[in-house]
Amino acid sequence: MPSNLTVIVLAAGGGTRMKSKTMKVLHEVGGRSMIGHVIAAVQATGPQRVVAVVGHQREQVGPHIRDLAPDSLLAVQEEQKGTGHAVRTAVETLVATDGPTEGTVVVAYGDTPLLEGDSLRAFVAEHEAAERAVSILSGELANPFGYGRVVRDEDGDVVAIVEEKDATADQREIREINSGILAFDAGFLLDALPRIGNDNAKGEYYLTDTVQIARDAGLTVGAWAIDDVMQTEGANDRVQLAELGREMNRRIVTRWMRAGVTVMDPATTWIDADVVLAPDVTILPGTQLLGLTEVGEDAVVGPDTTLKDCEVGAGARVVRTHGELAVIGAEATVGPFSYLRPGTRLGARGKIGGFVETKNAVIGEGAKVPHLSYVGDAEIGEGANIGAGTIFANYDGIAKHHTKIGRHAKTASNNTFVAPVEVGDGAATGAGSVIRRDVPPGALAVSSGPQRNLVGWSMRRRPGTDQAEAARAALAESAAADDQQADRPHDH
Ligand code: UD1
Ligand code: CA
Repeated sequence: MPSNLTVIVLAAGGGTRMKSKTMKVLHEVGGRSMIGHVIAAVQATGPQRVVAVVGHQREQVGPHIRDLAPDSLLAVQEEQKGTGHAVRTAVETLVATDGPTEGTVVVAYGDTPLLEGDSLRAFVAEHEAAERAVSILSGELANPFGYGRVVRDEDGDVVAIVEEKDATADQREIREINSGILAFDAGFLLDALPRIGNDNAKGEYYLTDTVQIARDAGLTVGAWAIDDVMQTEGANDRVQLAELGREMNRRIVTRWMRAGVTVMDPATTWIDADVVLAPDVTILPGTQLLGLTEVGEDAVVGPDTTLKDCEVGAGARVVRTHGELAVIGAEATVGPFSYLRPGTRLGARGKIGGFVETKNAVIGEGAKVPHLSYVGDAEIGEGANIGAGTIFANYDGIAKHHTKIGRHAKTASNNTFVAPVEVGDGAATGAGSVIRRDVPPGALAVSSGPQRNLVGWSMRRRPGTDQAEAARAALAESAAADDQQADRPHDH
């Protein structure tokens, strides 16, 4: 690898076609900003220096770049006068900081999320081996409209890059395009930048003019064509953003399948760039694995599940679930229709069942919350079982409070735990209890009181209704049966 590589990333343009208050390069694909992908590819080449040129909305872009690459330099281009002017701004900042620059300088754009480090590295290696003043990362496009064309002479040598608006009809037929990524000998670049003019259709300073400047000085220029042109494609509007996002997803899903993950339906499976999957994971249709989600060996996720920043243990099963910042233990089961909010930690072999919502809830090994419950701000001990329809009432209208359920406790259906409250190890509760006071270990807590039947209530309090009529008919029927019983002769 080159010992002295500088990469300049251009990100000063407005990106007006996004029609967004968010700067273009900050729009995300695969769970990362577009410039985040570019910086990751750039970092993979082990550069000595990274300079990002910012302009439009630099108060958004600057800090974001600093977060991604704390060692990078930011060059501010107040007015966007063209790619040549942008690179000149970067080089001025560089020279002011580091003194004269040597080695290789690569220019890349901040909006090409599919760019891979390996491609950049191969391009730089080829540029240095050929000892050129300028190398162009080029590509063949069926529809080259809008791109700068790589013009070659009859020997096939590169002589110029001509922009669409400045091209002759013949030049517009050329399908070899300038991807925008260029490599320079640093000494040549410093020399050439002040010589770029703006006498062209757009009145801009074109970086691409350096090709002709090098040729005129008798220096070598050349192009290195990339087969996978999509790596250099940028998103200018939201339609292209979605296209690049889908292509990135296709690549990520393919990579995981090759690594031993079963994906039943790649078209409806979305996996972010930073997700990590173990071998023999199975992903069922309609599943999105987002952010920093990790899934362990043999786990089955889906169908129709969204997990963001979650950890799924080996052998776990997660069906039709929405989870965020949750940890699911090994061989645990979740779903269908579960909602795991931040701070949920389900132990190994535990269960969060249908229509259960959890938040800031630590559920121990083998503990179960199987049906129709809300568990918020709670700790449930290992092996405990929470009855159907239980609510952990954590909020008193002012503050949130905590509930603790002991190990192997068995709480009955339709309980309300009014926090702060604690149920001891091995304790139990009766159906329909409202637990407001602590339950000691081993105790059975009942709160609903003995049942009272107010006989004839429906007929008195709901006269003339279907309810009263049904009760009257049932009572009449059982009275008639009693009479028959009484009339029957006794045979002893
Ligand atoms: C440029 C190239 C063209 C190439 C195409 C590939 C030039 C003159 N033309 O054209 O040959 O085929 O990219 O996409 O270089 N930028 C700045 N400051 C500026 C101007 C641009 O930071 O003053 C940034 C933009 O934000 C963008 C990139 O540079 O990320 C390219 O600029 P753009 O104006 O889109 O160039 P194109 O006309 O597409
Ligand atoms: Ca462009």
